[in-house]
Amino acid sequence: METNHLTKVLVVDFGSQTTQLIIRRVREAGIYCEMVSYNLLSSYLKKYRPEAMILSGGPASSFKKKSPKIDIRILNLGIPILGICYGMQIICQTLGGKVKNTNRREFGKAEIKVLKKNYLLEGIGKTKKSSQVWMSHGDEVVDLPSGFFKLATTKDNNIASIGNLRSKIYGLQFHPEVIHTIDGKLIIKNFLIRICKLKQSWKIEKFLESQILKIQNIVKEDKVICGLSGGVDSSVVAALLSKAIGKNLICIFVNHGFLRKGEEKEVISNFKKYMNAKLVYVNAKSKFFSKLKNVIDPEKKRKIVGREFIKIFEVEAKKIKKAKFLAQGTLYPDVIESKKIQGSNAKAIKSHHNVGGLPKKLNLKLIEPLRELFKDEVRNLGKELGLPHNIIQRHPFPGPGLSIRIPGKVTDKKVKILQQVDKIYIEELINNKLYNKIWQAFCVLLPVKSVGVMGDSRSYEYTISVRAITSTDGMTADIYYFKEDFLKSLSGKIIGEVKGVNRVLFDITSKPPATIEWE
Ligand code: XMP
Repeated sequence: METNHLTKVLVVDFGSQTTQLIIRRVREAGIYCEMVSYNLLSSYLKKYRPEAMILSGGPASSFKKKSPKIDIRILNLGIPILGICYGMQIICQTLGGKVKNTNRREFGKAEIKVLKKNYLLEGIGKTKKSSQVWMSHGDEVVDLPSGFFKLATTKDNNIASIGNLRSKIYGLQFHPEVIHTIDGKLIIKNFLIRICKLKQSWKIEKFLESQILKIQNIVKEDKVICGLSGGVDSSVVAALLSKAIGKNLICIFVNHGFLRKGEEKEVISNFKKYMNAKLVYVNAKSKFFSKLKNVIDPEKKRKIVGREFIKIFEVEAKKIKKAKFLAQGTLYPDVIESKKIQGSNAKAIKSHHNVGGLPKKLNLKLIEPLRELFKDEVRNLGKELGLPHNIIQRHPFPGPGLSIRIPGKVTDKKVKILQQVDKIYIEELINNKLYNKIWQAFCVLLPVKSVGVMGDSRSYEYTISVRAITSTDGMTADIYYFKEDFLKSLSGKIIGEVKGVNRVLFDITSKPPATIEWE
């Protein structure tokens, strides 16, 4: 879907780890923005003209022959530009300044002082005369291009910020997008609002209105198929499409048997309550169980579940006449990842199971109405669409469901045990007001039995591992530490109420080195 009518600010990616954070900060300032990789910038600018550009950092050295470059004509277009770290260095290098290697990496916190009154750094370090910033670089600017001034330096007199106030091209050696730069948000806001004079017009209500019109224009009288899982993204996609095209939306909900306890009923009842569309429900439990019988290898499990899911989906989709589109809940972080400069040796850690492989075979056109949004924006959109809190704030749940939370053989008995344990855990989190503090929480049923003593008798039962993590995007994760009392009481409840479990462990591994799921 085209979004150029919204595009105000363009973030140009030079391979930084924090490019996504820059985009986040711009949107938090109330201004829509998109990303393009530096090597596609020229062709992007042939079609669209952004009102401002932010050049990201990156790992290269701007003075090296093979480093990512920017065409001098782009810098002379008259579009205001903010270069961050490598972004600033490449501006200097291109406009006739000089950048060299310092032989000492400046990494971590630094203090800067403002030398010259200017809009970009207006209001920073108000209380002290200096402000804390975050540095991460090995090269530095030593000569400025003509027309540029030093705006700020570090305590050691290194350049921290530069600007050509007439052409509105600015540079920061530090990273304003990271939280360790205390006035970072203010600096980005100053650039966008004070210097570029952009209006803070990025509001989810407006996005909703424009998406509804757009979907109606594209779909017309045809039909759209949407895979429903009960998760946040697919629920929001379905609610949005249902609002736009009503009964021309047909949702397909495949129950593979590895859902949470009561989830199947919940998804169906929520669908009836909040959506005005058609639902095809497929109960394929026995099929999935027989396909997974005796399968132990995690990747095999994932592949089997993915393949079966697609097969069933295809069969159902083919039955729907006049179906022309397939709706998917792709989010902006996925789009960014696919547009970013990919490392040549990036390895697949797990084959994630989504319906991504479907359109080719089904000959359906894709509709991805969330592809410009981050997760929290999707949640706001869900709220705007009237979805209830328990759908919107739901923790992520993997496509293959509980089957990848049972290392080893997956049996009906084990799934039932895990469903009961999971229900107790999630209820306890909600009752103790912890659910919304945690990004994702779940239990894993280990293929390990151990000896216990309950009452006067010996037990020999399964082990449960409890996991709770904090994260922003699932790419990295930290452990959420519970208070001892909570863990003790949870362990007691699980063992007391679920037959088949006599030991509970708490997983204290972050990601990396572990992944969030066990398989
Ligand atoms: P990992 O285990 O790779 O998980 O650290 C990162 C996040 O992705 C979720 N996850 C999946 N989501 N289909 C999904 O839609 C999948 O196959 C899948 N596998 C993992 C996981 O729950 C965590 O939030």
